[in-house]
Amino acid sequence: MQPERRDRPARHVVRLAGETDFAGWREAARRLVLAGAAPGDVVWQAGAGSDLFSAETPLPEPSPDAVLNVPREFVERAEAAICHRDPSRFALLYRLLFRLRRQTLLLRIGSDPDVKRLGEMEKAVGRDVHKMRAFVRFAKVGDGPEERYVAWFEPDHFIVERNAPFFVRRFTGMRWSILTPQASAHWDGERLAFGPGARRADAPAEEAANELWRTYFASIFNPARLKVKAMQAEMPKKYWRNLPEASLIPDLIKGAGRAAEEMIANMPTSPAPHHKAVRERHWSRLEAEAGDGAGAKTIAELRSAADDCRRCPLWRHATQTVFGEGPETARILFVGEQPGDQEDLAGKPFVGPAGRLFDAVLEEAGVDRSLTYVTNAVKHFKFEPRGKRRIHAKPNAGEISACRWWLDRELDLVRPDIAVALGATAAQGLLGKAIPVTRMRGEIVAREDGLRVFVTVHPSYLLRIPDADAKQAERERFLDDMRKVKKLMAA
Ligand code: URA
Repeated sequence: MQPERRDRPARHVVRLAGETDFAGWREAARRLVLAGAAPGDVVWQAGAGSDLFSAETPLPEPSPDAVLNVPREFVERAEAAICHRDPSRFALLYRLLFRLRRQTLLLRIGSDPDVKRLGEMEKAVGRDVHKMRAFVRFAKVGDGPEERYVAWFEPDHFIVERNAPFFVRRFTGMRWSILTPQASAHWDGERLAFGPGARRADAPAEEAANELWRTYFASIFNPARLKVKAMQAEMPKKYWRNLPEASLIPDLIKGAGRAAEEMIANMPTSPAPHHKAVRERHWSRLEAEAGDGAGAKTIAELRSAADDCRRCPLWRHATQTVFGEGPETARILFVGEQPGDQEDLAGKPFVGPAGRLFDAVLEEAGVDRSLTYVTNAVKHFKFEPRGKRRIHAKPNAGEISACRWWLDRELDLVRPDIAVALGATAAQGLLGKAIPVTRMRGEIVAREDGLRVFVTVHPSYLLRIPDADAKQAERERFLDDMRKVKKLMAA
């Protein structure tokens, strides 16, 4: 990064050990803020070329009894924002920290330019993290004791260190390396290490891994839902050249008639081939280490605790925990059954066929999904493998009850005015007992804690109705239900 140019010499020049040296930034910022150093008097440097203009100055020594109280929320948000590639991020974070001493509620002022920028950076980093999780493709190199998996990825921001623990959790038993232009991460089955950036040519030839992924992608490809614009927004062209499956898309689109579309839309996928063996070797240790998020104060904290959920065995075969999504201020909270095949891969609730239908009906009913919180009664995908496919399996009472822990924490944090049970599993998760959904559809049931639960069917029920007229009629009923929910929201 380039150092900031200044008209007068800065009183403090801080050189950080690297682009993501949060510990270094935090210690320097603590000392500077305690010494009352104005943000305009501090220059932050990190990375290559950082010593071009100014020499580092010693940091002020705080008095031993000096105390600095920093809101935990700020620390967490700063940790994310520091991964952004904008060179001014260190200064922005220091400015916010400095201002927080006087304006303790500063982070609540969304219109403040510094707070706004912090939010933008966090979001951009979050998106990049998500993309890396979705698009990293490992290629196998070597055999037997030499076996190792290597992936190449080009992130927009400095997210390798932040994201590496996710890959450790997901591919615990594999030895792997992820190479990027800025940094590399290496896991040998025991330890995680970071190294310098790499070149594309350092990663192995892609063909072996690509073949695997092409088969996999062809089985999950869904031409009925192809939206080129949305796809490019989510998966910008620059990622495409690293995606072996991209070359398949034109043929898949051409070859898919309506019947094929329906078939593909309903076709489950195969799990990543190495997934099972890798996870099995580590089950007992992972189960013993799992946390429960009891102290979580935000949905982000809760989600992160749930990433390691081992409350029932479903985590063992699912790709990841699919946690709820939406603003903590949401007045309405929708609960589905469990993530499906596509949700399991994407890590987001209701993004597959049932999610699309749900979105369309909500839109028609005038309910803005982005203002609602959407979650599931069970947070791991339960399925039965059939050959290469994963067939949805209904969660049982034990699994619903184990996962109720998370649903109740979500309800505690979001505190919605109304919860909507989409189907029987959701109703059981919300109410702690089974109820006859078809008979009670449209009713509001009050929980012991006073929360009102609106009962309706699950959108996937509509997808399964074979007769077109009956399907349309049921869709209208579901739309009516969503209109009622909207009214309840407004009430
Ligand atoms: N069905 C659900 O109940 N939840 C999802 O997230 C997707 C499909």
